[in-house]
Parts: sequence; structure tokens; C-alpha cells
Amino acid sequence: MMDQDTVERIRAVTGEERCSTSRARTYAYGFDASIYRGQADMVVQPLSTEEVSAILAIANERRVPVVPRGGGTGLCGSAVPVKGGIVMDMGRMDRIERISVNDLLCVVQPGVVYDELNRALAPHGFFFPPSPGSGEACQIGGMVALNASGMRAVKYGATRDYVLGMTFVKADGEVVRAGTGTLKDSSGYQLARLMVASEGTLGVITEVTLKVSPRPKASAMALAAFDGPERAGEFVAALIAEPLIPSSLELMDSVSIDAVNRALGGPLPDCNALCMVEVDGEPEIVVKELRTVEEVARRSGAVSVESTVDRGQMASWSSSRQAVMTSLSSLRPGSSSVSLADDMVLPISRIPDAVKAYQEIAERHGVTVATYGHAADGNLHTKMLIDTRDEEQWKAAERTVREIFQATLALGGSVSGEHGVGMSKAPDFIIERSSAIPTMVAIKKAMDPNNILNPGKLQQWESPGIIGDLRYPCDPPRD
Ligand code: LAC
Ligand code: ZN
Repeated sequence: MMDQDTVERIRAVTGEERCSTSRARTYAYGFDASIYRGQADMVVQPLSTEEVSAILAIANERRVPVVPRGGGTGLCGSAVPVKGGIVMDMGRMDRIERISVNDLLCVVQPGVVYDELNRALAPHGFFFPPSPGSGEACQIGGMVALNASGMRAVKYGATRDYVLGMTFVKADGEVVRAGTGTLKDSSGYQLARLMVASEGTLGVITEVTLKVSPRPKASAMALAAFDGPERAGEFVAALIAEPLIPSSLELMDSVSIDAVNRALGGPLPDCNALCMVEVDGEPEIVVKELRTVEEVARRSGAVSVESTVDRGQMASWSSSRQAVMTSLSSLRPGSSSVSLADDMVLPISRIPDAVKAYQEIAERHGVTVATYGHAADGNLHTKMLIDTRDEEQWKAAERTVREIFQATLALGGSVSGEHGVGMSKAPDFIIERSSAIPTMVAIKKAMDPNNILNPGKLQQWESPGIIGDLRYPCDPPRD
């Protein structure tokens, strides 16, 4: 619990309206989109770098944890206040400060929502491409803090590829200007890059300078059905070897296809594996590339190939893909889809092996697992369907996760491609990055010696297990 004097000092910085210790508000800020919950003591909503700095200086002096928070759409618990303290909601710092397309960049506050930024860039003919699935709600600060991305990363890269500079505030309140307002920079340590994927453990981001890309003039999509993930995987490899880099290439396994078809009334071909491919660029190139996609799909044994340039049809296909995560919950009454082992990334050529391995592991543990994702950049999602009231099913899910991560690492992959580590991947992240952990610990100590910034996350995760502090009625104790 925070003492009253600390509460009053922070309230003096923000005023009454942007600072709360009420049970209702602190409860609501105990969750993000992960399976976890925490309990904050206070919620603050700063409006400026100066306010962030003043709040952090007080929190640091009083050793109060501070958890920076964007849109709260994270799936692994990065914004959950596991050690209590202050949740710093950055959502009111939501100004687009400058769009300078002549310089190929924009400057934004961290609370700008991804889709809002793209709506503002569109009239200039530009966009910020990473395309997270949560684009309607996630915020730029959170995207930077987790190196978020999504469907377009295969062609356009992830958030890190667009961060040119930023302002962040260190734990003691010191304001740091990192990087530049230029496209290139070879001066010293790339501190802005260090902040990317640091999950709020090294500083609070208060302004970001992002590179922007010209919007493609046209796009087209193809839907190729296969008799299994192996053939779909061969198609992905063959397409890239063409060489052809699609603007997105989404793979769905049979569980994902079935879930979407049941929830949305059958918009997808009924098959064992599906690849949804988008190509974009100049109109004549798009037409040529679409033909190539169709040819390669047939050559790779597709059982059917459909394609379209119609915007409505493309939007409908895309939303079927976006619906996998939520549709899974309607597959079996009483069960819900939970985000576990949610974004492994593999060398692209190992995708078929990974899908096969995940399916075998799921079967062995009696857990329904949907595998889908951004196959052309090697990034796969699994979602597990369990009865969240049943302790045994949580335990089975945990065993499944463990083996999925082991299989991923054995195939040369990594535990997170775009969602971050937070809590649900922490034990396996620590195993995977074992030789880098001491350096990470040293950096954390240098930047946040009192350990107030998002404590208990990443390399600081203490528990061997990931099932605990759940937001669900059933909360089995950790092993
Ligand atoms: C997606 C999110 C879960 O790709 O990253 O649907
Ligand atoms: Zn994704």
C-alpha cells in the first residue's frame, strides 16, 4: 500500500481528476488482455513529460512500483501491476505533434491509437505499417514498448524498424532524448532501440519519432486451401523463393478455420489448412504478383485457389482471419480461448514442422489448440480452448505451453515475435536468452537501480510457473 503522504504529493502533480486510488478504478487497471490480474494502489494519467518526470521522481524516492500502460491490449501481462503501486495510463498524451512527409516521419505522443495515426497519415498518402491485430485500440507507446507488429511485418517490418527517436523518462525522473529526427543516425549507443521491447522496465516513453511509408496504391488477395499444414508450409517457402514478398501471408489450421466458420457462418473454405495472401504496390505489379501467387499455390498442391481485387471481399477475408481469436471461444460451450504460447517465431522454413509439432503436443495433452498466424515471417499464434473453471485444464494447458516452447526452441525459434514476454513467456524467455540475461540485469540496474519500473517482469520473473494470478474464477496455485 502507498502511504498517504506519497499519494498527496503525486496528486499535487496531476490534480484530483487525473489521479485515483478508488477501489473501482485501481481494480479496472489490474488487467490487460492477458490471462492475469494484479491490483494497483493508484492510477495516474499524466499529460506531459514534465508530469511523468515529477511522478517518477516521487515514486523512485518512495520506492513505489510504476507500471506504464498503453491501450491495455497486451496478451502476456506486460501491463499488469503484479507488485501493486502506480499504473501510469499514458492514454491522455494522445497528440499527433507533427506529420512531416517531406522528412518521411511523424512525431507523436505515446497515447496515440494506431488506427488514428493511420487515419491522419492517409490524406498525405503515407502510413505506419506494422498492423497489429489490436490496431483499433492499441497505442504507439505500447507498440514501441513491445515491438508490436502484425500481418504486414513480412514486407514492412515491425515497430522497431520505424523508431527513429524518442523522449523517455528514467526511473529517477531524468528526461532523455534518444535518437534523432532524421532517417539515419550513427552516433553512439542506439538508446531508442534499447527502449523497444523493454516493456516499461527501463523508462517511460513520452514522445516517439516514427518513420512513415508511402501507402501502396493497390492490393489484391488470394485464398489457397490445402490438405494439411505441410503443403501450406511448402507453399510459403516456394512463394518466398520465387522471390515474392507478399504484404501479408496468414496461415490458419483446421481448428482455426472451423472456429471462424462456426462463429461467422462459414465464410472460409472448409479445409485442413488455409493461406490468405495479400500483395500490394503499383496496380500492374499487383496483378502480376497475384498471378504468381495463384500459380505457386497450384504448384504446391493447393486444393482450391480463389483471388480477388474487390475491396469488400478483401475486407471480409481479413476480418475472418482477425476473428480467429474470438471465434475459438464459441467452439465449445463452457470453454474459452486463452492466450498462452501466443506468438512463437521460427525460421520460416520450419513453419510446417512447428504446426505439426504443436498439433501433436496438443493432442497428447488433450487440449484444443488453434494454430494460425503470420507464416511468411515465421510468426505463429496458438490459442488454447479450455474450461477456465477447471484447475486440471489450466495445468494441462501449462504443460502444453511448456512443450510448445521447447519444440519452438528446438526448431531454432524464439518465444515471442510480436506480443512481448510479460509474464506468460517469462520462464521460457529466461531459458532462451540465458547468455544475455546477465547483461539485461546490468542494464536494468543501471537505468532503474531501485527497481520501480514494471518490477517482476521479463528477466525478473520469479516463479517457475505461468499459471497463477489469473483473472478467472479458478486460480490454481503456482507449482
Ligand atoms: C493476431 C494477433 C493475436 O495476429 O497478434 O491475430
Ligand atoms: Zn499476430
